[in-house]
Amino acid sequence: VSRLAVLDISWFTDSMREGRPVTVETRHRIQDVMEELAESSEFNESKGPCLAFRRAASVLKSLPSAVHCLEAIQGLPCLGEHTKAVMEEILTFGRSFKVEEIRCDERYQALKLFTSVFGVGPKTAEKWYRRGLRSLKEILTEPNIQLNRMQRAGFLYYSDISKAVSKAEAKALGCIIEETVHWIAPDAILALTGGFRRGKEYGHDVDFLLTMPEMGKEEGLLLHVIDRLRDQGILLYCEYQGSTFDVSKLPSWRFEDMDHFQKCFLILRLEQGQVEGERGLQSDPGDSRGWRAVRVDLVAPPVDRYAFALLGWTGSRQFGRDLRTFAYKERQMLLDNHALYDKTKKLFLPATTEEDIFAHLGLEYVEPWQRNA
Ligand code: CTP
Ligand code: MN
Ligand code: MN
Ligand code: MN
Repeated sequence: VSRLAVLDISWFTDSMREGRPVTVETRHRIQDVMEELAESSEFNESKGPCLAFRRAASVLKSLPSAVHCLEAIQGLPCLGEHTKAVMEEILTFGRSFKVEEIRCDERYQALKLFTSVFGVGPKTAEKWYRRGLRSLKEILTEPNIQLNRMQRAGFLYYSDISKAVSKAEAKALGCIIEETVHWIAPDAILALTGGFRRGKEYGHDVDFLLTMPEMGKEEGLLLHVIDRLRDQGILLYCEYQGSTFDVSKLPSWRFEDMDHFQKCFLILRLEQGQVEGERGLQSDPGDSRGWRAVRVDLVAPPVDRYAFALLGWTGSRQFGRDLRTFAYKERQMLLDNHALYDKTKKLFLPATTEEDIFAHLGLEYVEPWQRNA
């Protein structure tokens, strides 16, 4: 759908015909502008506007073609006045002055750069900015900056992990993880999640879910897998988090980001030769080492929570947000990565598959590739 939006140049040609000012800016998609505004709001801790811009980007993504007139905007759902005003500005003037201002903003540029490092969140980025630091080099050479282990790995593998992961690379990693997991436990359950399960061509990492058919056995499994990856010499970095999952706790529908399952955030070494289609290729002369570092997430929920974890980790983030809001507002149910709770019946609703969860919510099943909101 979003590719269609890029190809739709009628907007461009119409503007030319009508003699409206068309700059290169006109053609950059309103969707990109919305995403930049969302990011900028996030840096300013403006949660409401941030979500509004993300939603707007998501609505635009779902359209069969690019928006190219003011009337089309009026008919769109879920858009606030502010968001509409920015879109109107782009359609009228061919550019958004607000976004241009943000792009030139020193603070925005610095925070965007700093948060692009694995292990650096908005808080740390802000702290560095306030100390007058502006470039990655300045951070690395400033003697009084203490980097934690995650950030050190983030800088060490910066160029590799800021490069998109291809589907072929994700597949190769899938084979490695699969082999490792099943070498340890032949009956282990393993699934690809995240963007690649939704059929995306590129991702920033590769996400997997693993568990054991017998409750409680999954805990030992994940630790074993990490050891085995280390033994194979491909574990470049591992941030392990034990489970803090509490079965009696009600799900929180506003939940964002962190669930309580046992998990690890990894950086793995992927050999070029293991990636299909790369074998015969001449390697980039500037990159003759024959391998790259890739970010991998492994999550190990207990088997009775597997379906909830799969749904949550398949994303997209926006789809998950919408689904939890729907559950709460339309069904008086609380949904998160761990469970589904019916507030009216005061009952946890069990599920062994994602289909079960959609059925509990009274929704038709939505395929992973349809969840790219
Ligand atoms: N997620 C989650 N809890 C986390 C991290 C992520 O529930 N602690 C969910 C997010 O909702 C997201 C999905 O898991 O939709 C995958 O997260 P992530 O890898 O960040 O995003 P992808 O959609 O896979 O996109 P990409 O990796 O390509 O950026
Ligand atoms: Mn991912
Ligand atoms: Mn991501
Ligand atoms: Mn991830």
